[in-house]
Amino acid sequence: MNKKTVRDIDLKSKRVLMRVDFNVPMAAGAVTDDKRIKAALPTIQYVLEQGASLILMSHLGRPKGTGFDPEFSLKPASEALAKLLGKPVQMAPDCIGPEVEAMASALKPGDVLMLENTRFYKAEEKNDLDLAKKLAALGEVYVNDAFGSAHRAHSSTEGVARFLPAVSGFLMEQELEYLGRATDNPAHPYVAILGGAKISDKILVVENMLAKCDTLIIGGGMANTFLAAEGCNMQDSLVEASSIETAKAILAKAGGRLLLPVDAVVADKFDAEANTQVVDVDKVPAGWRMLDIGPKSIAAFGEVLKAAKLVVWNGPMGVFEFPKFAEGTFAIAKLLAEIDATTVIGGGDSASAVKKAGVAKKMTHVSTGGGASLEFLEGKVLPGVAALNDK
Ligand code: 3PG
Repeated sequence: MNKKTVRDIDLKSKRVLMRVDFNVPMAAGAVTDDKRIKAALPTIQYVLEQGASLILMSHLGRPKGTGFDPEFSLKPASEALAKLLGKPVQMAPDCIGPEVEAMASALKPGDVLMLENTRFYKAEEKNDLDLAKKLAALGEVYVNDAFGSAHRAHSSTEGVARFLPAVSGFLMEQELEYLGRATDNPAHPYVAILGGAKISDKILVVENMLAKCDTLIIGGGMANTFLAAEGCNMQDSLVEASSIETAKAILAKAGGRLLLPVDAVVADKFDAEANTQVVDVDKVPAGWRMLDIGPKSIAAFGEVLKAAKLVVWNGPMGVFEFPKFAEGTFAIAKLLAEIDATTVIGGGDSASAVKKAGVAKKMTHVSTGGGASLEFLEGKVLPGVAALNDK
C-alpha cells in the first residue's frame, strides 16, 4: 500500500482521532455481532500502547441527521468495546461541541473516548468541511481504520483528512492488501465467484474481474439473466430483461472463461417452504423459479476451484436465508475452506455465508466492508483511502 500507516507516525502523547466502522447490528440496546469492533482492536491497542490517547468516531445506521436519536446511539458499541479492551471507554454526548472538546482535552495517555454518531449531523454525509474541521480539532493525528465506510466521501472519512496528518490503521491496510490481490498482479489461476440477485448492481465488478481473472463463476439470481441471454427459458425466475443485451456482450467477451450453473434447485414459489426439485437449467418447469445452484454445478465449480491459487468471492449462489436454497452457497464456502489457495471473501452476504457455514476462520480474509469491498472490486479508488497521506 502506498499510504502511510500508524507505523509511519509518532503517536507518543498524541491525541489520536480514529475513524472506525462500528456500524454494527444491534438489538434491544446491545451489539449482536461485534466482528467489526473486534476487527478494529489491533489498531486501537497499538495506538494505546504507543502512549497516545484515543478518540473514536463512527456512524451507525442511517439516522435523519437532525440531532441525537437514541435508536442510533453508539453507546452500546462503546460498551462492547470496553468489554473487549478490558478498560473503560468514555461515551461523549455528541461528536462535536464544547462538552466534547472538554472531554477530548482532558484525555490522558491510554484513555479512550467514543464520540456519538457522526450522522446525527446532516453535514456529515455532505462532506461538510466545517464539520470536518471541528472533528479534526479534537485530535492531533487522524487514523482511518474504517474500511467499511471508505467508499463514502463524508466529513469523518474524507474531509477530516485534509486538516490532520492522516494515516491508515491495520484493518484498512489488511483489507487493501487482500482485496488488492484481486486487482494488482493476482496469483494464477485466479478464479472469481460472483453471485447475488442482479447483474445491474454488479456490472462493473463483472467487467473488472473478467479483465483480471482466469475463470469467472457466476451463480445466484444474476446467473438467471446470463442463462436467459444464452436462450434458456427461465420461467418465473428473476431475470433482468433490461440487462440481457449486456449479458450477451459479456458472454461474447469472456470467450468461455465465464462459468454458469448447469443445474438448479427450483421452487414453485418464493417461500422457505416451497416445493422444490433439481433440474437442468434449460428445463425449468413452467411456473417455477431457480433459487439455488444444483449438485452438478457445485461439482463443476469445485473442479475449477481445486486448481485455483487465488479465489475472490462476492455474493451468494442462491437464496441462502432459506435452508432449502442454502446448499449451493454453503457448498462453495466449504470448498473454499478445503482448497490450497488464497481465499478472499467480500463483505455483506458472502461474509455471513462463510460464517453460517462455519468456515469463516478457514478463509484467508473476510472483508468487513459490504459496499466498500464491492466498489473496490469495481476498480474504484475509495475516497477514504485516497485522502490518506502518501508514503
Ligand atoms: C456498511 O455497513 O456497509 C458501512 O458501514 C457503510 O454504511 P452506509 O451504507 O450506511 O454508508
